Amino acid sequence: MEIDAKSDENARISPIQSQGLIHDRLTPALESVEDVLASKNATFPLPSALRPPCWCMTCWLAGWRRLRSSPSPAALSDWLKQVQSRFIPLNPGSQKILSPQISRGGCNTGRMTDADLHALDALPDPAGRDPDRLAADEDWWSHVAALYDLTDEVVMLDNGYWGAMARPVLQSYQRATARVNRENAWFGRREFPALLEHARATLAEALGVGTDEIVLTRGATEAMQVLIAGYRHLSPGDTVLYADTDHESAIAAVQWLRERRGVDVQRIVLPEPFDHDGIVDTYRKALARYPRTRLLLLTQVGHRNGMLLPVAEISALARAAGADVVLDAAHGVGQVDTPLSAMGADFVGINLHKWIGAPVGMGALYVRRGRVQDLDPCMGEADTGDIDSRVHTGTVNFAAVMALPAAVSLHQRIGVANKRARLLRLRNQWLDALREDARIQLLASPDPRLSSAIAAFRLRGQVSLEANTATAERMLQQSGVFVVAREGLASGACVRVTPGIFTAPAQIQSLIDAVRAVAG
Ligand SMILES: Cc1ncc(COP(=O)(O)O)c(C=O)c1O
Repeated sequence: MEIDAKSDENARISPIQSQGLIHDRLTPALESVEDVLASKNATFPLPSALRPPCWCMTCWLAGWRRLRSSPSPAALSDWLKQVQSRFIPLNPGSQKILSPQISRGGCNTGRMTDADLHALDALPDPAGRDPDRLAADEDWWSHVAALYDLTDEVVMLDNGYWGAMARPVLQSYQRATARVNRENAWFGRREFPALLEHARATLAEALGVGTDEIVLTRGATEAMQVLIAGYRHLSPGDTVLYADTDHESAIAAVQWLRERRGVDVQRIVLPEPFDHDGIVDTYRKALARYPRTRLLLLTQVGHRNGMLLPVAEISALARAAGADVVLDAAHGVGQVDTPLSAMGADFVGINLHKWIGAPVGMGALYVRRGRVQDLDPCMGEADTGDIDSRVHTGTVNFAAVMALPAAVSLHQRIGVANKRARLLRLRNQWLDALREDARIQLLASPDPRLSSAIAAFRLRGQVSLEANTATAERMLQQSGVFVVAREGLASGACVRVTPGIFTAPAQIQSLIDAVRAVAG
């Protein structure tokens, strides 16, 4: 018997019959479909709910796998009815199932579609390759770059603002946007909640944390504000510590605590040029100098000079001193291969549009399990005790959430250790070329433990924002190289340079030439 979604006979199918049908007729077909997809090295995170969030091939298979692992007649019957209601032609025979009838229109969850997976096939599997060796494999990285459609009007070296979406992610986002627009509230109210959970679960799995420990936000600023403003254990007279390398938005939130909670807010200045022991020592001394420190703001990767903090070591010092760490990982997650759980920070603000490659306007908040009660519920929210009660974003960018799993898939396919090695290689290319140039002051450590994609320079003696903005502008006008001036470091302003994973060594050479040219 063919399974025909339009037939009355199938509409009245009993649970036992459906179980038999699936096992007898569909299992062999589905297994061969799985084989085909597995041969593409595709990974399919299981949806959290039994019901697949959409009926593209990927989601459908994920639902099937879940069912197959714990079949119950009721669940099978429910699943089959849903399949039927979507008019999916279930002809036994893998090629038919793989036909565009299922994947046409794309995956509405934002997961990779069959077509997207084909695009990724062009990227040779990096599994098992040494990240440092892979970093030097220009052919491999040109395949990565080929996944992006980027302007060639400038040499883009301000990729610290946000990372571009790769084409499969953009396509997922566009499909999701079209669906949201077409189906409107009918979709938003009935279907989206499951997709949101799916996006959260996908991210949590990728970050190695529990879904109960993470909630999506619109960016790192929103996450950090929730953490800083909501931290419950501050009393008048306590100290909150931050550093000159922290981000302006987090510093503003910390300073706001002064008037709202009556705390003493102290700024520390990190040494420059910075070195590992000097940084740790600065924090150790500050914690000793301010023994009432209850909260310490740390930034995993500084957005001006790219300094990668030894977060785990500093967190251990803070814990020993009775202080909690609130970590700004806006530039860390997706770029640095240290797991969240290994940093010793219980409260972390995350950005997903920088180094995970999600659509702009995506971030997340991580709170270690058992610590939600140390944050106030979001204004007026009932204290349910779960992390969702700590953030209230309102209506979200549905399509961006739906495209997050695609961004995470690509991120995982490339591999964070591979990304990091490549980015360090590009960064070292320009730093090594300019290190001996007396006209240029580099704001970067040669110590890989403290290094990230981001590094900065200034023409010697130029410390004002105006001078550095003018330098960046001249580089754009004279050489077509786009970089950005940043201020806020105790030592003065600088010009920040940030390659992306799609940056080519030739573009770094253009930067080197441009810096030499502005140095006169
Ligand atoms: C270190 C750091 N923290 C926080 C932010 C703010 O992130 P978002 O724009 O996602 O709010 C940025 C943005 O550049 C940043 O570099």
